[in-house]
Amino acid sequence: MPFPIHRGRRLRSSEAMRSLVRETRLDPAQFVLPLFICPGEGVRREIGSMPGQYHLSVDEFVLECDEARGLGIGGVMLFGLPESKDELASGAYAEDGIVQRALRAARSQTRDLLLITDVCNCEYTSHGHCGFVKDGDVVNDVTLEWLSRTALSHARAGADIIAPSDMMDGRVGAIRKTLDENGFEQTPILSYAAKFASVFYGPFREAAESAPQFGDRRSYQMDPPNAREAMREIEQDLAEGADMVMVKPALAYLDLIHEARTRFDVPIAAYQVSGEYSMIMAAARNGWIDQERAMMETLVSIRRAGADFVLTYFAKDAARLLA
Ligand code: PBG
Repeated sequence: MPFPIHRGRRLRSSEAMRSLVRETRLDPAQFVLPLFICPGEGVRREIGSMPGQYHLSVDEFVLECDEARGLGIGGVMLFGLPESKDELASGAYAEDGIVQRALRAARSQTRDLLLITDVCNCEYTSHGHCGFVKDGDVVNDVTLEWLSRTALSHARAGADIIAPSDMMDGRVGAIRKTLDENGFEQTPILSYAAKFASVFYGPFREAAESAPQFGDRRSYQMDPPNAREAMREIEQDLAEGADMVMVKPALAYLDLIHEARTRFDVPIAAYQVSGEYSMIMAAARNGWIDQERAMMETLVSIRRAGADFVLTYFAKDAARLLA
């Protein structure tokens, strides 16, 4: 309908009008807050590269879960900083590992906040790679055994959802099989299916102390220019038994979130990663951008592109604003 019969501005005239016709809304129940758990007690240490985010000891983590639940946030994603690291990532699958202890502590208190665990090895290996390294490369099939053990130990400790982020081939199938064989056939898998070798994980690697000591992750994480390959990864993870899939990072990959939404009728998650968070925080601290508006605009863009839920370090701030 051409002008002047049609005037787009009629429906933008007031907040009430805009709100009436708003197509996408944010709901804290669709946010997941990533948290970093460290050894010790009473520890709440701000992460240099991620202002407003903290290393939390288990007791502080439990308090954080209470706060998140109080704000109506859907879940938390647990990352662990182990006491020590080794070549076999043994801290990842130790029954009394840092994440396992945090799960047990939170589980006894929280029922209605989802505890989601990132299953990977890079925080636990001395070299910082996501699996068993031989001759300078990550050996896929040995790593699957570690991942399966880790996933099972998380399920036993009370994880609601298992989220493998390592990008080894066949890991969803391997984890599904191990969970099923051990009575955890009801535990869902959220696969980091389309995970790219991204510069935007930079601040996280300081936060999780997981930067690779040599080389990079390009032999397992995806090449940023590839969209069709991302769809193939998602398809394969679904065939192996993933219940939900993730696109990561979010903002630079909105096209893939949208494409995944149109192709696959499963819940799609997107991860607004550390670099996306820290860029906004840095610009805001310099007075160059409005933090709240940048936060809300990026979050709504991710939902508009087609993500059902969003992993975001802004979860608490955004939830407060929506309250
Ligand atoms: C573990 C993992 C990473 C992130 C989530 N899980 C780091 C990486 O792959 O290097 C990144 C999250 C973020 O940047 O916020 N493999």
